[in-house]
Amino acid sequence: MRKLYVIMVGLPARGKSTLAQRIREALEADGRQVAIFNNGDLRRRLLGSMSTRPEFYRPDNAEGRAMREDLCRRNLEQARQWLAQGGDVAILDATNVSAQRRALILEELQDHPALFIECVNEDPLLLDLSIRAKARLPEYASYSEEEAVANFRERLGYYEAMYTPVGDGPEHFWIRVDSMANRILQEQPCETSPMYPAIREVLVCPWVRSLYLVRHGQTEFNLAGRIGGDPPLTAKGREQAQRLARHLRGERLDWLFTSTRRRSHETAAPLLAERPDLRCLALKEFDEIFAGDCEGMSYDDIRATMPQVTMQRNADKYGYAYPHGESYAMLQDRVRRGVMRVLFLAKDSPIIIVGHQAINRVVLALFLKHRKEDIPYLNVPQDKLYHLSVTPQRKVFERISY
Ligand code: F6P
Repeated sequence: MRKLYVIMVGLPARGKSTLAQRIREALEADGRQVAIFNNGDLRRRLLGSMSTRPEFYRPDNAEGRAMREDLCRRNLEQARQWLAQGGDVAILDATNVSAQRRALILEELQDHPALFIECVNEDPLLLDLSIRAKARLPEYASYSEEEAVANFRERLGYYEAMYTPVGDGPEHFWIRVDSMANRILQEQPCETSPMYPAIREVLVCPWVRSLYLVRHGQTEFNLAGRIGGDPPLTAKGREQAQRLARHLRGERLDWLFTSTRRRSHETAAPLLAERPDLRCLALKEFDEIFAGDCEGMSYDDIRATMPQVTMQRNADKYGYAYPHGESYAMLQDRVRRGVMRVLFLAKDSPIIIVGHQAINRVVLALFLKHRKEDIPYLNVPQDKLYHLSVTPQRKVFERISY
């Protein structure tokens, strides 16, 4: 069996380390011996805070460059030893954005093939949030958040200045992957490696470690049969929200995502009150289907005053868009973007999404591959939650009453 070096490439905060860990996990599940060699960890261990300053990364800082190159060589040496001593795959986790750095890697590692995986992702919201998360790392402990962010952005600028995409550099085997959308953009396959298909699968598989999906509790509009709007929860809805928080006690949750609507926030409130460390983000992508001219109306009012809407929607509920509003078909793109953002941000930590009826139908369909005409009829009750876990090794789907 041929051994392999996997070299991550990409600007900071593009999801390289998460992908490196997933590749390790998937290959280990196939019985391979895999280790990750991370330049950043080594840098922090050996150089400490002097390597946090942005000047350290300035391309014209000869001393900084020599130190970074030295760290890189040490990791390359450890990776080479790992393969020589019985390991199957050594993953080098670092930015490796310059062609010159990648030439050095290829020069040093000639004993086995090297597959370069470049992670790209230019989603401005994710980058901003990822940079803020970096600014909270221990190495920035002595900085204010704004100082740390400015400092990190300056470092990013230096990396950008020396960036050469894979394919334009010296590498022979490479994959460019959109790390938010789990999509391979371009590749030069390493067909001789028996591990290549499994690595590819990791890059394209939506990876959901643990996702709870709930609908908001009962609202005033639900009682009246009215749609859309921004109504508050009823007393029963608030009780459902309390029950949800009680039910999830003892479950690890790192991230909570809501829509921007009041009913979604009110449902999340008891959970947040119990878990001060739960990170929380409201995404417009999860706002309920927009009923346009019919917002706030009841289904009976629509039938009576706009019978063509009811008729056409009944004939094709998936494809029909409300006048000046949305269809399920239109929802799919924005909900997919929301889910991709969520999975990128939360990495592999457990998450909960407090969504809406139509939104949750579309989220479920993304993972469970329903026929599109069935999506608008999926059952999304207000007292049950869905729990999903999807990786190349594991597919779990449960519906649980609370
Ligand atoms: O009735 C609650 C609700 O969330 C409405 O706001 C929304 O328009 C509707 O469900 C979506 O369900 P359907 O597509 O079945 O009308």
